[in-house]
Amino acid sequence: MSSVRVGIVGLGNVGRGTLRLLRDNAREIEAKLGFGLRVSAVCSRSVLRRRSAAAELHPTARKTADWQDIVRDPRVDVVAELVGGTGAARRIVETALAAGKPVVTANKELLAEHGPEIWARHSSRGGWLGCEAAVCGGIPVLKALREGIAGDRIDALVGILNGTSNFILTEIERTGSPFGDVLEEAQSRGYAEADPSADVDGHDARSKLAILAALGFGERVLPEQIAVEGIRRIRNIDFAYAGRLGHTIRLLARARREPGGLRLAVGPALVGKNTILAGVTGSYNAMWVQGNGGDTFYYGKGAGPAPTGVAVVSDLMSAARSVRETAAEFASPFGHASLAQHSPVSSESEVRQFYLRFRVRDRPGVLASLASKFAAQGVSVDAVLQEPHFDKNDLPFVMTLEPAERSALSAALREIRELDFLVDDPLALPMVPTLADGGDLR
Ligand SMILES: NC(=O)c1ccc[n+]([C@@H]2O[C@H](COP(=O)([O-])OP(=O)(O)OC[C@H]3O[C@@H](n4cnc5c(N)ncnc54)[C@H](OP(=O)(O)O)[C@@H]3O)[C@@H](O)[C@H]2O)c1
Repeated sequence: MSSVRVGIVGLGNVGRGTLRLLRDNAREIEAKLGFGLRVSAVCSRSVLRRRSAAAELHPTARKTADWQDIVRDPRVDVVAELVGGTGAARRIVETALAAGKPVVTANKELLAEHGPEIWARHSSRGGWLGCEAAVCGGIPVLKALREGIAGDRIDALVGILNGTSNFILTEIERTGSPFGDVLEEAQSRGYAEADPSADVDGHDARSKLAILAALGFGERVLPEQIAVEGIRRIRNIDFAYAGRLGHTIRLLARARREPGGLRLAVGPALVGKNTILAGVTGSYNAMWVQGNGGDTFYYGKGAGPAPTGVAVVSDLMSAARSVRETAAEFASPFGHASLAQHSPVSSESEVRQFYLRFRVRDRPGVLASLASKFAAQGVSVDAVLQEPHFDKNDLPFVMTLEPAERSALSAALREIRELDFLVDDPLALPMVPTLADGGDLR
């Protein structure tokens, strides 16, 4: 049988990994499919101006700087959009789908912002959209939710979805170095972009959670509907205190089905040391899913050319099967025939224990003033921890609170921010001592 012809737009990290696997694994791919995948055209803005090692992996592929040449080329059966962003990428995906070509994308931002609408427009005309690489890179979490555990009713999901921030947090924990130094190290190793904000401010994880909310819970969630907090304020001292409390700190993306709707949040949290998520270190990703049928856990490399390339190539293989009609996989990539309106539950109603790290100019009465602000909101202090040998003019210490509604904590913190002995804004992190509660204590 003749090969299915693939056009690749975007020759950066993911494009390079994809093209390498398509060359190195060609024999295995053909054995699995019963026919080959041939790269017939490649595109990037600079491919005709600069030497591209990625393009040279497939010397017979036509090179172009104009993506229209790929999506409109009758000699391209399947298109991979590996460009990123929501501008040109959206036009590439929509034009290719309108031309009746299956599309594979790694673009979480595009899918979170516009994916369900793009799918709604093109599915009735037999569109095919693969997006496994968009969430957790090489870990097939979307396929697991869409197919593997489709029979379960998902009640909660907790993920470490951003490898860069996980690398930074675990390096701060391991080396005791400050955030800025570890960020530079992450940038020099190629884990973090020159502009790291999408990773360290939680926006990348938030886009992924929006996609997971569609797959796991059938709701159309826009990223901006999800409360987000990044990791820039986490310091070495927070790991020392978290350790004394039997916890560590991870950037968690959390989703939980509540009687009134869906609770979604992305932010750093204290995670019990004996939970499986605490063992996820470096640039690894993980996702724990709780359904009424049981728990499942997924773990692996969440980014990088090779792991992400595997996800893209696997999708290209499914797309090629759809072209050959050897397996008609025309299901929505969001796992639901249609998505319902998002019913948000405010994170302010979340009940849990909190970790609060203060930096104060020490003087008598500091603890009593803080405790009285919490007491006024009906919140009790559980423990106070203080490491020795700190400057009394910038003394860090920690309070943990008994389970309380976040709205009561927010009200107390509004009052506390007025106190003149604070050196900076208190850091408040939720505590997730076990995963069994999926993130809530109510
Ligand atoms: N990096 C990862 O580990 C990873 C993991 C999972 C998902 N993703 C997703 O995968 C996608 C690609 O990421 P990446 O890291 O590979 O990006 P990247 O290294 O910045 O590469 C982007 C590529 O797209 C090309 N490009 C940009 N605009 C274009 C246009 N208008 N027409 C043609 N080509 C264009 C660029 O070409 P020029 O250089 O010539 O401009 C470059 O080759 C993103 O959606 C990202 O979120 C990445």
